[in-house]
Amino acid sequence: MKEYGDYKYTSVSMNKDMDLINSLGELASKNTIEYIIETGTHRGLGSTTMLGNAFKNSSSLKSLNTIEIDYTNYTLAKKNLSQFIFVNCCYGCSLDLNDAIEYVKQDEAILHHEKYPEVFIDNAKDPINFYVNELEGRLNDSSNNIIKQFLKKVLRPSRNANTKPTYNLLPSLIKKFEGHEMLIVLDSAGGVGHMEFQITDELMKNKNYYILLDDTHHLKHFRGYDIIKNRGDFSIINASEKNGWVLAYHKAV
Ligand SMILES: C[S@@+](CC[C@H](N)C(=O)[O-])C[C@H]1O[C@@H](n2cnc3c(N)ncnc32)[C@H](O)[C@@H]1O
Repeated sequence: MKEYGDYKYTSVSMNKDMDLINSLGELASKNTIEYIIETGTHRGLGSTTMLGNAFKNSSSLKSLNTIEIDYTNYTLAKKNLSQFIFVNCCYGCSLDLNDAIEYVKQDEAILHHEKYPEVFIDNAKDPINFYVNELEGRLNDSSNNIIKQFLKKVLRPSRNANTKPTYNLLPSLIKKFEGHEMLIVLDSAGGVGHMEFQITDELMKNKNYYILLDDTHHLKHFRGYDIIKNRGDFSIINASEKNGWVLAYHKAV
């Protein structure tokens, strides 16, 4: 695999893609979606703000639940998203942490990433450590620059001893909203994107739902995108090969 930082469109995230903004606007105007679940809020200014803007006039949406494991990002996201009263920021991990770490350590596509020359990965030299750090909520600690590291430590929001992350939030939220029309947006750590897709796919196999994957040309979702294109139970609403996203509808089998 090749490093994502070298891709010339890396900085063009899906939230700036007018094609996707228009497709989400059309979806929202149908007024059928009741719950949105998103993994990977980051600081809230990307996909979550895009979803908030698309659905702010929806008469069906009850809540947009977005999950973030890095405490600094979560704290900033809560502030950045406060204009959207229907957004619920969840501090925690989409998955069970031990299962997720085990998955990263054993994933054939990570262990033999050189077999996939067309696919992007965040760190080609030490992908396992990179993704384990991200899963443990230390995305903001990764920097080679000592001054940057020091500033990040000093400026990090202090965490009350009782503030603990919740784990396994993706399946818990899917089960909580069972029976309602959902849009599921998967955009967390590259190393566990496919694990999140597989869990969603299994829990929702007998349901109709919408799904949005970011980074379909990346380790995160190249396999999920392949399933969406080829298995027959998904129909693609819109997709961008260049910016690497797909919005699709799953019909119960
Ligand atoms: C690619 S960024 C998300 C970008 C964001 N959706 C946007 O458009 O700006 C991934 C984020 O997911 C968080 N993250 C990584 N693994 C996670 C997990 N398993 N559960 C929840 N958050 C996770 C990281 O800390 C990081 O902030």
